Amino acid sequence: MKGIILAGGTGSRLHPLTKVTNKHLLPIYNKPMIYYPIETLRKAGIKEALIVSGKGHAGHFLELLGSGKNVGMDLFYDVQEEAGGIAQALKLAKGFAGDDDVAVILGDNIYTEEFDFTDFRGGARIYLKKVPDANRFGVASLDGSRVLMITEKPEVPMTNYAVTGLYLYDKNVFSICESLVPSKRGELEITDVNNTFIEQGKMQADFVKGFWSDAGTFDSLHRTCAYMYELANK
Ligand code: DAU
Repeated sequence: MKGIILAGGTGSRLHPLTKVTNKHLLPIYNKPMIYYPIETLRKAGIKEALIVSGKGHAGHFLELLGSGKNVGMDLFYDVQEEAGGIAQALKLAKGFAGDDDVAVILGDNIYTEEFDFTDFRGGARIYLKKVPDANRFGVASLDGSRVLMITEKPEVPMTNYAVTGLYLYDKNVFSICESLVPSKRGELEITDVNNTFIEQGKMQADFVKGFWSDAGTFDSLHRTCAYMYELANK
């Protein structure tokens, strides 16, 4: 299985912190944010990953991480010219992935769990977490542990289960990405990709054990830094 780390986007919710740098280079306690998703994939046994970032900052990732030798993984790089959505960034990884399954992680999603991907048998897998503010995320409607549908940032969430930013896919994900049309916010949505797998009956959902947060808003960035500080100093 290959890793894909998505670190593009504009980071506009963190202005002015992200006016001259990329969100994923900001600190989470004592490390740049991007170190955390790399570590999540590395601990799950991923040996090669592609980092997709935006045009202005691709060189910074290369300077920081190089070949990946210092973070225990072979790293490759690609550039997303415009922030056209998570699924648009994912599309760029088609050649890198070849026929392999992929573990896709959003560069601002921070986990403490050590994941096991070895039992993945194709289709897609998402990881859910119960949260108090589900309207900020993709939200899963559930029948037991079966996902019926995902709604992106609903005004009134049907459940408290957020779809977190870690996804496993087989190679069919790339043809699904090709068939997408932009959403109302003008992006190719990862939620549309996931709903296609659900419609095909090929989606499996797991629940995140341990801490999870995104770090793309002032509150979540602060909360994640504080958590990592506590964890390191307890
Ligand atoms: O954090 C989990 C949530 O991430 C999910 O629950 C949502 O379903 C999913 O759509 C996403 O929501 P956000 O609106 O919070 O995503 P955001 O635009 O902040 O992008 C998250 C990461 O994806 C970002 O850190 C880098 C990457 N990204 C995003 C965009 C829009 C790209 O690489 N390229 C892009 O064009």
